[in-house]
Amino acid sequence: MDHFHLRDGELYAEDVPLARIAEEVGTPVYVYSRATLERHARVFREALAGAGETHIAFAVKANPNLAVLRVMQREGFGADVVSGGELARALAAGMAPEDIVFSGVGKQTHELVQGLDEGIGQFNLESEEEGAELSALAVARGPRARCALRVNPDIDAGTHDKISTGKADNKFGVPIGRAPEIYARLAALPGLDMRGLAVHIGSQLSELRPLELAFQKLGALLTNLRTTGQTVTHVDLGGGLGVPYKATDVLPSPAEYGAMVARVTRGWNVALMFEPGRVIAGNAGVLLTRVIRVKRGVNDPFVIVDAAMNDLARPALYGAWHDFEAVRPSNQRMTANIVGPICETGDTFATGRDIEGVAAGDLAVFRTAGAYGATMASSYNSRGFVAEVMVDGDKFAVVADRILPEAIAGAERVPDWLD
Ligand code: LLP
Repeated sequence: MDHFHLRDGELYAEDVPLARIAEEVGTPVYVYSRATLERHARVFREALAGAGETHIAFAVKANPNLAVLRVMQREGFGADVVSGGELARALAAGMAPEDIVFSGVGKQTHELVQGLDEGIGQFNLESEEEGAELSALAVARGPRARCALRVNPDIDAGTHDKISTGKADNKFGVPIGRAPEIYARLAALPGLDMRGLAVHIGSQLSELRPLELAFQKLGALLTNLRTTGQTVTHVDLGGGLGVPYKATDVLPSPAEYGAMVARVTRGWNVALMFEPGRVIAGNAGVLLTRVIRVKRGVNDPFVIVDAAMNDLARPALYGAWHDFEAVRPSNQRMTANIVGPICETGDTFATGRDIEGVAAGDLAVFRTAGAYGATMASSYNSRGFVAEVMVDGDKFAVVADRILPEAIAGAERVPDWLD
């Protein structure tokens, strides 16, 4: 459930008409609803109430905006970060270092050092090599680094190939069959406090079964490790729960996910950690855009909007579907191709889509754009970076300025020797 709704024939975010935001901030612009973010955070937490001790770390990659992170911090969430930049953002948003988990397959030396110096809660190690480097860095500094070993359970998450992470040939984690020996070697290193396991098999999962299989494999590994005298006090079950992108999509609810987790992990006797991203932020944001013009096509017309693949990359990158809704529905329908102004055919949001009739100058939104939206923007075609707004009841604030093409060009220079 979200707080974007029609009121008197016009689309609102909470109590703010989207047309007002377009007027004051311009388009394209991402609009987030604070009430929706909070609702999703609470629903997720409540869903895990039966799973014992839990720590929830918002996957910053889904939406790293500082205002969004502050909402998560106020909800008691920590942060799952994958770079020094994300780590700095989590801290800037007020998250406690001990509530921060550092994931990622290619953490660089300076990032490992940053995590150690900040005293973060846990490093999720993705390889033995990374563990050896972290141990040496920690020994040189003092306190041992709290770590979990990310395992690759070789499970097909049944999602888009580009966002699957738990198959044997994916780059993530260590092969589950080799995990016991690697865990033992890492636990023997002087700079590491090996305290657990981590798994994340992919994103936008539409079924619980692959997650359940992965968790069961993890449970067996946990027993095996304990039998050999290893300590396991924490298990990080990652993120991955999908969200509906179409009104007709049926996905497992957080409650069903929580019940499965409670069932599978019963008796593990660990603190469970979670890294949800999309399920919290996805439906809490829209990309507000204006129709530039409607162009006749050989078949369907082209609705050309002022948002493009550089602002919302998911359709171009994964063929993803985002519902398109007029801000002031005309109650007429049309079948159209929805495209942006960028000079490649990949800049297509929808093909042959049945939508409300729109004309030049009309406002519309792409739904479910709160996760993996603004954060994946680029400045391709020298279009600048899109602005972001957060709504709270009847007020709103710009939470990220639009970065103009001039500002981006301002960071570039022509060397003397080209004169
Ligand atoms: N934990 C780890 C280790 C991850 O790699 C991810 C996402 C998450 C947690 C959060 O997953 P979520 O709960 O959001 O599914 N750009 C793609 C999604 C990439 C996800 C990458 N990893 C998209 O737009 O669909």
